[in-house]
Amino acid sequence: MLNPLPATLAALFLFIAPAAQAADSLDNRIGEALFRRMWVAAPTATQAADGLGPLYNARSCATCHPRGFGGRPPDPAVKGDQGVGYAIKLNNDPVYGRQIQSNAILGQVIEGRPRVTYREETVRFPDGGTVRLRRPTPVVEDLGYGPFAEATAMSARVPPRVHGMGLLERIPAEAIEAEAARQAAGGGPAAGRVNHVTVDGVRQIGRFGWKAMHPTLNHQDSEAFSLDIGMSTPAYPEPWGDCTPAQTACRSAPHGDSKQFEGLEIPSTIIGLIDGYLRDLAPDGGLEAPKDKAGTALFADTGCAACHRPSWRTAEDPAQPALSNRDIFPHSDMLLHDLGPGLGDQVPMGEANGSDWRTTPLWGLNRLAAKDGELSLLHDGRARSVTEAILWHGGEAQQARDRFMALPGDERKQLVRYVLGL
Ligand code: HEC
Ligand code: HEC
Repeated sequence: MLNPLPATLAALFLFIAPAAQAADSLDNRIGEALFRRMWVAAPTATQAADGLGPLYNARSCATCHPRGFGGRPPDPAVKGDQGVGYAIKLNNDPVYGRQIQSNAILGQVIEGRPRVTYREETVRFPDGGTVRLRRPTPVVEDLGYGPFAEATAMSARVPPRVHGMGLLERIPAEAIEAEAARQAAGGGPAAGRVNHVTVDGVRQIGRFGWKAMHPTLNHQDSEAFSLDIGMSTPAYPEPWGDCTPAQTACRSAPHGDSKQFEGLEIPSTIIGLIDGYLRDLAPDGGLEAPKDKAGTALFADTGCAACHRPSWRTAEDPAQPALSNRDIFPHSDMLLHDLGPGLGDQVPMGEANGSDWRTTPLWGLNRLAAKDGELSLLHDGRARSVTEAILWHGGEAQQARDRFMALPGDERKQLVRYVLGL
């Protein structure tokens, strides 16, 4: 929504507080309300908020991305704990589909309860310090529809932070392709690749999700409605979400498609408002260059910046002046890297194989700095601290990890402090 202020004043306002300006618009507040809305099962009298499930994981976006932050895995020490937004993806099981839905509307059977068990390991630094790592094995308890097919594999995921998505969406596609070409020509260990995905017949650059499977925020948000909430959108029009033909009770349950909503449960206007809200949800930090110069140098010298590319410049978009032509500091090259078998599993997605992950943007970690030691970092939330996250890096990042291991203790601390300041 364009603001109604006189042009000069508006320009000044945009210059000093673009995020605040965007966040104040009415569309944004509606988008936020929809992000938090608890959807309900069909049928209801109003039809405006129904269509949940029949099988689903959570009833709102915000349940899994509270205030735009990420989630966490279940705590095996707490009986029945489900974590926050923890989900298990499958390589397309013929009965369970692409994800385990851990909830169901009345009268339907849940698919199972995603859990995790850990094996603890100790890693010793050359200078004597130690870190405990926990190696996860995902499990699904109480499978509701019989055993998995023999070829079925699992990949556990926690919800990522969703700040700054609009800015990442505006990084020019050619610039991302150029970064991949530059890394390939550089001959270093980091050789990132684009995950190309074809949506509506157009081959595009995947940007969002742990494996960069989604080219646009709209596509990512639409898949969330389908897989996580069980509601149809223009991009995923099946009202039963992830239910397979084998799940007949789910397929034949009442659904919330309605004429006034384009024959869908979530029409383009509603998903558009949610996309818009997320597009303007500013990252806390990452809008200017880090001030810690020594930390910046250490981050580069250790080899982190080879993938966690500090900065990009966004493209011009007349419809999105607040997101256009800006230098941003997400600390990600937006590319896939093979981080080795320690982080890998057997669930490929598009051109990403089981051990390929998109370099996670590190901006916004400053908001979590006080919690280092009880965080849920990496795709399955196994790392409780930045140090643990680094020590899980293998494959293309093995050299950077080994350099980190070899740093003197005070420089290790300095590097971690730098990352937690982003
Ligand atoms: C059950 C929990 C759950 C719900 C509900 C949920 N998400 Fe997510 N979300 C996730 C997980 C898990 C991922 C990571 C998926 C992956 O890449 O494997 C994710 C990824 C995302 C991303 C990509 C972020 C990035 O860094 O690339 C966005 C954006 C997002 N979700 C938005 C939404 C929106 C909008 C809704 C509501 C329509 C929603 N989510 C509902 C769990 C959830
Ligand atoms: C070869 C590319 C590469 C290099 C080099 C690299 N990283 Fe990463 N980093 C990644 C990828 C890919 C992920 C996502 C892995 C996953 O979730 O399983 C990641 C994840 C992370 C995370 C977790 C973020 C989160 O929110 O979950 C942190 C922290 C991190 N890296 C810091 C570093 C630091 C510090 C260095 C240097 C010592 C480094 N990385 C070197 C590619 C790299």
